[in-house]
Amino acid sequence: LVDKAIAVGDTMDRDDLLFSYKGILYPTTVCSPEVFKALESFEARQEDVILAGYPKSGTNWVGQILTDLVTTSAENNEDETNSLNDEELEEFPYLEVGDAEKYQRMEKLPSRRVIFTHLLPHNLPESIFKNKAKVLVLVRNPKDVATSFYHFTNGMSPLPSYETWDEFFTAFMTGKMPWGSYFDYICEWSKHVDDENVMTITYEELKENRALAVKKIAEFFVLPLTEEQLQAVVDRSSFQAMKENAHKTHGALGNALFRKGSVSDWKNLFNEDQNQEMDKMFEERLARTKLGAKIKY
Ligand code: A3P
Repeated sequence: LVDKAIAVGDTMDRDDLLFSYKGILYPTTVCSPEVFKALESFEARQEDVILAGYPKSGTNWVGQILTDLVTTSAENNEDETNSLNDEELEEFPYLEVGDAEKYQRMEKLPSRRVIFTHLLPHNLPESIFKNKAKVLVLVRNPKDVATSFYHFTNGMSPLPSYETWDEFFTAFMTGKMPWGSYFDYICEWSKHVDDENVMTITYEELKENRALAVKKIAEFFVLPLTEEQLQAVVDRSSFQAMKENAHKTHGALGNALFRKGSVSDWKNLFNEDQNQEMDKMFEERLARTKLGAKIKY
C-alpha cells in the first residue's frame, strides 16, 4: 500500500495530496473520506492494544514493542491464533489507513489486536472509549517531531514535500499539515490522560531507559513475560536493530522511517526565531495541559 502511495505521491501537487475531514488535513495517498466514514462503526474490544501518537513521535518504534510483547505473550499461552502473519501485520496496524472493507476483516481477527493511530480522540470510533480499550498515548518533544516530520516529507514518503524548512515550519505551527496540528493533538488527548484505561509514555523516557519503559508497557496491558523475554523485546527494539531490519519490516519506507533516532536533533535545523516561536507556543498552549506537562521540553 505504501509503495503504491509513494509512486502516486511522486507525481502529484501538494494540494492534490491532502483532503480535509472534520477540519483536519489527511494525505489522499493513504487515507480517504470513505474509510473515515466506515471507521465510525468500528467495534473496539476491551482487549485491544491501542497506540496513539502524533506522526513522527516514534509510533513505529513503540508499535514494534507492542506487537512483540503481544506475540510473545500469545506464544506463552500457546495461542497460535493470536499471531498475525506478515501480510496481516502490514495491513492492519494503522487504524485510519487502508480501504473501507478493512474493518470487516479486522472483526474476524482474534484478540489481542494491536492497533496504531494518529487520530485525535474525538475522531476515533466511540467504541474505543465506551468499551474501555486500553490506549497508550505516545508523546515526543515538538521540536524533534517537527524536525523528524520535515525530513520524512523530503524523503521517499507518501506525504507532500516542502521546498524549504521555513515553509514546513510555518505549516507545522499553523497545523496545516497531514493529520493536523501537533498542538491540538496534545490539547485533545490531555482530556483523556486521567482515564483509567489510558497510559502516557514519552519518546525521551524510552530513549533514557528502554528496559523500564518496556516493563511498564507490558504491565499496563497485562502481558506477562519472563525477565528474559522482556529483555529480548528490549534488544530487538534498539534503533540499530530496527534500522537493520527496516527494509524487511517497512519496505521502501524503511530508510526514511529510521533516520537518526536521537533527542535534540532540532538544534541542527531551528534558527533562533523559530526556537523562540516554538517556546512561546508551547508555553501558551501546552505547558499547563495535563499531557503537555508530561512532555520532556
Ligand atoms: P527521527 O526522524 O528523529 O530519526 P514514527 O514512527 O512515528 O514515524 O517516528 C519516527 C521517528 O522515530 C524517527 O525519528 C525514527 O528515527 C524514530 N525511531 C524509530 N525507531 C526508533 C528506535 N528504535 N529508537 C529510537 N528512535 C526510533
